[in-house]
Amino acid sequence: MTDGNDARAASLRRALADALERSGDLHSPQWRRSVERVPRHLFVPEFFRRTETSDRGTLWAPISSGRDPEQWLDLAYRDETLVTQLDRHITPHDVTEPVGGDPTSSSTLPGLVVRMLEDLDVADGMSVLEVGTGSGYSSALMCDRLGDDRVTSIEVDPAVAAGAAAALRRAGFAPGLVVGDGLDGVPERAPYDRVIATCAVRRVPRPWLDQVRAGGRILVTVTGWLRGYGLAVLEMGDDGVAEGRFLPGTISFMIARSQAPPTIGDDQWNAVFGALAEVGPRPAVVGPGIRKDWTGVFVAQLALPTTQEQVIRIDGGPWTTYYLDTATESAASLTPEPDGGWAVRQSGPVRLWDKLEAAVVRWREAGSPPQERFRIRTDGHAQTVWLDAGDGSLSWDLTV
Ligand SMILES: C[S@@+](CC[C@H](N)C(=O)[O-])C[C@H]1O[C@@H](n2cnc3c(N)ncnc32)[C@H](O)[C@@H]1O
Repeated sequence: MTDGNDARAASLRRALADALERSGDLHSPQWRRSVERVPRHLFVPEFFRRTETSDRGTLWAPISSGRDPEQWLDLAYRDETLVTQLDRHITPHDVTEPVGGDPTSSSTLPGLVVRMLEDLDVADGMSVLEVGTGSGYSSALMCDRLGDDRVTSIEVDPAVAAGAAAALRRAGFAPGLVVGDGLDGVPERAPYDRVIATCAVRRVPRPWLDQVRAGGRILVTVTGWLRGYGLAVLEMGDDGVAEGRFLPGTISFMIARSQAPPTIGDDQWNAVFGALAEVGPRPAVVGPGIRKDWTGVFVAQLALPTTQEQVIRIDGGPWTTYYLDTATESAASLTPEPDGGWAVRQSGPVRLWDKLEAAVVRWREAGSPPQERFRIRTDGHAQTVWLDAGDGSLSWDLTV
């Protein structure tokens, strides 16, 4: 980059730091200094930008320093998530026109990166394990703040990891980088004072508990197969159990690849459609719109941890939401009624919608408390999430 561009990048970084302070994501002078110093543009030499939605779904346009240097530099310092990989293999380098695909790697929204670093509550001398290196930008901020030898980062995708390693080198940082499944942690560099995950998990894995010191923190987004999310901070006890709470905000991350839901084939869905067509309906107390309620879908997912959904219209019929629990082969469907309500049909050994409604109704009766009223405890095998209502009346266990 030219000196002019360097000066421009430095000024964009200051503007980004100002914006992050105004949004309330950035509080501490130490992290502000790192935001001002770490050149994010080196971590996103190319990325995708969401363009239009076509009949092929969302399309992503490639942006790179070579194609449009000014736009690229500006975007690199906006408070935006920059998608760097689609469908686990397509990079901006591979395409010249907008393409379809599902994001599988990104440089996270700087506001979220910084907010999580603030929530991590680090102090000088602490060591951190990061799960999900991605572009390497958040690893670089931590190296800047804590020193290279205090930072370890693991990334499951070898191509993504290679890109991050090159960017970190270019920017002058040298954390411990590992390619592998972050759910195993990195035992050879343990113990850690902090674990931070920038991919989401259904279940906090046992190796993280083994590798974090007693009194240390784990910051991770807990998710599930109904795509509810909650950012949790857990403190490690000296009894091998970590316990904590959910933080406010609407934060979502891609699920760790090894905990992604199993693919449900067309044959399996067709069997579900057939089975439910044989069943009589009842009026639903809770409709499928629960998925649009941030905490509501989280509660629904706690009740149905191995269930997936799809919305589909068969042979010109009404748009119907289908649910399939792959663990028990139980299913449910929700079809709109002319009066604005929903008809529910259920098949299989577990009445999925009965379970979901029981949980959601109890949560509503408790006043629909937000996520920060929920707590989480895990020993790495059994994970419990409960509503901190005093009477323990809403509690969910996850062992699968
Ligand atoms: C949102 S991106 C990370 C963003 C990154 N912290 C940054 O600032 O650019 C999430 C990353 O997690 C990685 N990932 C997904 N599952 C993983 C796993 N089981 N172990 C390690 N990394 C994983 C993805 O490949 C992806 O690169």
